[in-house]
Amino acid sequence: MMEQSRIAQSIGIALDRFIKNNQEQFQYASGELSQLLRDLALASKVVNREIGKAGLIDIMGSQGSQNSGGEEQQKLDVLANIRFTRALSKGGEVCALISEETESYVDLNNEGKYVIAIDPLDGSSNIDVNVSIGTIFSVYRRKSPEGTPIQDIDILQKGSEQVAAGYILYGSSTMLVYTTGHGVNGFTYEPTLGEYFLSHPDLSMPEDGKIFSINEGSYNSFNSSIKEYLMYCKEKSFVARYIGSLVADFHRNMLKGGIYIYPATAKDKNGKLRLMYECNALAFIAEQAGGKATNGRDRILEIQPITLHQRTPFYVGSKKMVEKAESF
Ligand code: F6P
Repeated sequence: MMEQSRIAQSIGIALDRFIKNNQEQFQYASGELSQLLRDLALASKVVNREIGKAGLIDIMGSQGSQNSGGEEQQKLDVLANIRFTRALSKGGEVCALISEETESYVDLNNEGKYVIAIDPLDGSSNIDVNVSIGTIFSVYRRKSPEGTPIQDIDILQKGSEQVAAGYILYGSSTMLVYTTGHGVNGFTYEPTLGEYFLSHPDLSMPEDGKIFSINEGSYNSFNSSIKEYLMYCKEKSFVARYIGSLVADFHRNMLKGGIYIYPATAKDKNGKLRLMYECNALAFIAEQAGGKATNGRDRILEIQPITLHQRTPFYVGSKKMVEKAESF
């Protein structure tokens, strides 16, 4: 056995096998949630392939239309939305899909048990300059009986009701990181085999850290407590790192210890980020990894959404750093 592993090093456990082995951990272990995670993984492989070709074919740049928030849609935003929607509608597990790219939710299959909230391609303006981007997803169990039309109670659920959440980071390598409420595991994509393999088992976020990630260009429109906290970071000679791709900034801070802040500004009283398909998933993952996520005061996962595209200030990362930022 020793000899064998010396000659051919093991590449570890594939995502499919990991999902299967851990299926009994799911609160409702009927196999549908497992299938849904596999569907998301498959769509991400297709999106990853398209992103990898972005400089070669005509899929960079603007689509010439706007998303739900009035922001300019990139061609790849639209493409990723189609890929994920298609993959999630095929299996029949999903009854409704909330996406950054569509104004209202998409009704998929009344028999489906799950509601998905997704940002198919976050940070997509970074594509044209070859910088990391991501996909973020939250999975909820519907509340109304299966087979009946979707209702607001199915759609507008608090983050604390998520049964799974994850992200895909299209970076120097492509990674899928997810939780079902039993810790966080990270998988790295092996493109020649077309598979994700477990590379970061049982991820935990350092309790404290030194990295702070915030768009300081908006400094003049921050309130005094953020300004004071930034001063504190500088007095301590912390490290400033800001990619402007939420998934990439979050992922780095989770591995190294840090805080990401998108605060309220004079212009955006509720910050910029979306509660339902950006903050909730990352808040669930952060907490599962031992970190913390708040809006500067309250736990993100306890915020009751009122609208699909609701925004919230977002403080996420190492527990002690988030607590320190809140204390200002
Ligand atoms: O939600 C969109 C997003 O692109 C995030 O990925 C990113 O962290 C943030 O906006 C960047 O915003 P800004 O350009 O205002 O710093």
